[in-house]
Amino acid sequence: MTATVVLGLAWGDEGKGRVCDALASDVDYVSRYSGGNNAGHTVRVGEEEFKLHLVPSGIVREGVVCTIGNGVVVNPEVLVEEVEALEKRGLGVRDRLKVDGRAHLIMPYHIALDSHREIALGDARIGTTNRGIGPAYEDKVARYGIRVQDIFDEGILKTKLKAALREKNAIFENVYGEEHYEVADVASWLLTFRDFIGPMVADTGTLLREALENRERVLLEGGQATLLDNDHGTYPFVTSSNPTVGGAVVGSGISARHLEYVVGVTKAYTTRVGDGPMPTELFDEMGETIRSVGREYGTTTGRSRRVGWLDLPAVKWAASLNGITHVAITLLDVLSAVDEIKICVGYEVDGARVEGYPMNQTDLHHAKPVYKSLPGWGEDITWCRMRGDLPSAAQDFVGFVEAEVGAPLCMISVGPERDQAIVERIGI
Ligand code: GDP
Ligand code: IMO
Ligand code: MG
Repeated sequence: MTATVVLGLAWGDEGKGRVCDALASDVDYVSRYSGGNNAGHTVRVGEEEFKLHLVPSGIVREGVVCTIGNGVVVNPEVLVEEVEALEKRGLGVRDRLKVDGRAHLIMPYHIALDSHREIALGDARIGTTNRGIGPAYEDKVARYGIRVQDIFDEGILKTKLKAALREKNAIFENVYGEEHYEVADVASWLLTFRDFIGPMVADTGTLLREALENRERVLLEGGQATLLDNDHGTYPFVTSSNPTVGGAVVGSGISARHLEYVVGVTKAYTTRVGDGPMPTELFDEMGETIRSVGREYGTTTGRSRRVGWLDLPAVKWAASLNGITHVAITLLDVLSAVDEIKICVGYEVDGARVEGYPMNQTDLHHAKPVYKSLPGWGEDITWCRMRGDLPSAAQDFVGFVEAEVGAPLCMISVGPERDQAIVERIGI
């Protein structure tokens, strides 16, 4: 009766997809619990690369049942496209993918609003993925949302759309000077997905709880990451859901009592896509080197990722917030290209050293990193499969992070491919 959560300790793209893929060899279910197709999770198996946006990474492992939980916002068009694309590549998807009937749908007007707002914000923009995520969650909380189950009753669907569009059409016409949306058009667009999605709809929370009671193993795959959490992240430069451990419980419909392991994933350095504070960001050649060696371009939007040294105060705070039991360090091989590695071990704000991770957003914008230097190892490590295979400088680096974070390492990844990792089994 154990559930394991895999979640990001920074601003996303930590390699959650590949960590889930490694752990999925031992589980029965993999479930997404937050976010939507703002996520882009990469799994590489030999020459094959899978970029997953809505479908959990477990789909790459035959026999694993995958669920899209109630906490996810689902763009039905993207779901259909992703499932079809995966099936074309030979994966059985529809027989083992379940979508919760309580999950909310991302509608065309959510995407339009997302993009209008970002343009209107100008320099203060969030840098969203423009997938309609924020507006879809807003409607959920405002109780104007359209849920997956609504597409099976045309009458109810139209009544709900009418309510949802009343204020929105006024906004489109009066604030953004755009055409309004017709209930009939949106309804008929949605109904085109009914037959495809219908057989996959399930009460996934009940499914997972029953599985857990039957001693099956469940892996919860976080989208986004701790510093993008709507409550705990660098607000307002955050996403509109809770990728943190509490969100895993709410968004998948399991009990907190079911959770046994929480795996926090961090890169060996830090990246961020979109706007907002990032104290360790590098603007020099070193940043360019890490970006090009790590191929730091967004999986979802293709945007160039901002790159910086590992931000330990942030990672330690995220580890504590989520109560992680294990840590996974990814992209360690990228640091093979660096002679002297820096790790941020604290911040200074207005010339004074601050303890821990600042609560005050203005402090974060002004935080100057205090660095510790560690020697690089300057050699290929992609072949290493045991911790002892790593050069001693690399062992020192991961040992330092492990001790500072205060949780044992369960995985060190040394390359993008499934096999390029040092995996220490955690017994899930
Ligand atoms: P996620 O959103 O957390 O699942 O991460 P992404 O898939 O968006 O970004 C991680 C990127 O790093 C992907 O392109 C992966 O293929 C790649 N990657 C993951 N682990 C490693 C690693 O250990 N080394 C290298 N070089 N690349 C990795
Ligand atoms: P994965 O799961 C990296 C960022 C966006 C933007 C902010 C808000 O692949 O780690 P949104 O579209 O969610 O309203 O955008 O959040 N963001 C991500 N950054 N990885 C992600 O997902 C992200 N999902 C959202 O860039 O800064
Ligand atoms: Mg990603």
